[in-house]
Amino acid sequence: MTEYQTVAKVGDIPEGQGRSFAVNGTMVGVFLSQGKYLAINDFCPHMGASLADGHVEDDAVMCPWHAWRFSLKDGTWLDNSKSNIKSACYEVRVDGDEIQVCVPAGDT
Ligand code: FES
Repeated sequence: MTEYQTVAKVGDIPEGQGRSFAVNGTMVGVFLSQGKYLAINDFCPHMGASLADGHVEDDAVMCPWHAWRFSLKDGTWLDNSKSNIKSACYEVRVDGDEIQVCVPAGDT
């Protein structure tokens, strides 16, 4: 069964930034973008940089290594619309002052 897990408290992730957390064996990047928390797989599909360290703008994150951009809403690689390269996205909710994400066990 997949459940929400608390990764941080509201206020721990500044607007326009991300943080990475291990959830169910998967590194997840959780971002605060335009007042909303969004989560994608933290592992850049290009060469594995931590996307949580990237620059956030317009609900997208730019990888800190080679500047590939990924949508924080659906994980799409935004630099090539014909590519099927995509990052996994995860549900995020706020319960009280806790930021929680739902990551299926064994997701990579
Ligand atoms: S490792 Fe992310 S763009 Fe190269």
